Amino acid sequence: AVERTLSIIKPDGVEKNIIGEVYSRFEKAGLKIIAARMMHLSQDQAEGFYAVHKERPFFADLVKFMTSGPVMVQVLEGENAISRNRELMGATNPAEAEPGTIRADFAKTIDANVVHGSDGEDTARSEIEFFFKNDDICPR
Ligand code: CMP
Repeated sequence: AVERTLSIIKPDGVEKNIIGEVYSRFEKAGLKIIAARMMHLSQDQAEGFYAVHKERPFFADLVKFMTSGPVMVQVLEGENAISRNRELMGATNPAEAEPGTIRADFAKTIDANVVHGSDGEDTARSEIEFFFKNDDICPR
């Protein structure tokens, strides 16, 4: 089915100047960018976005990293967009990511892992709503 998913190029990806490289991988995989926004997350925004991880030991470091510089946030649309984006990203820990994935090719650590992608239909819906109003989304 055609799905939408939320993608974030994290501060390390923006700093490495690989927004275009990552977008190109999305496009070559048949995913369309139907909304996009560059922003520097506040503490509140990062904590809110990652609220499901609030009790995890890595939460404080995650929020610190995600507020360390600008991020590029986009909605991707396409056939099986949620799992397709996860395949393109590779495993959360770059040391475990398959060769040729974004994280294997560009990520350094589990926090500085270049990209975020929604992990299911419900999270995709709520994560898209977190950043975009309906009017911001331009499907075609
Ligand atoms: P992301 O997909 O953005 O969702 C939560 C992030 O927490 C994850 O990518 C990692 O960058 C980060 N993180 C740090 N430590 C861990 C961990 N032990 N397990 C999962 N995610 C972690």
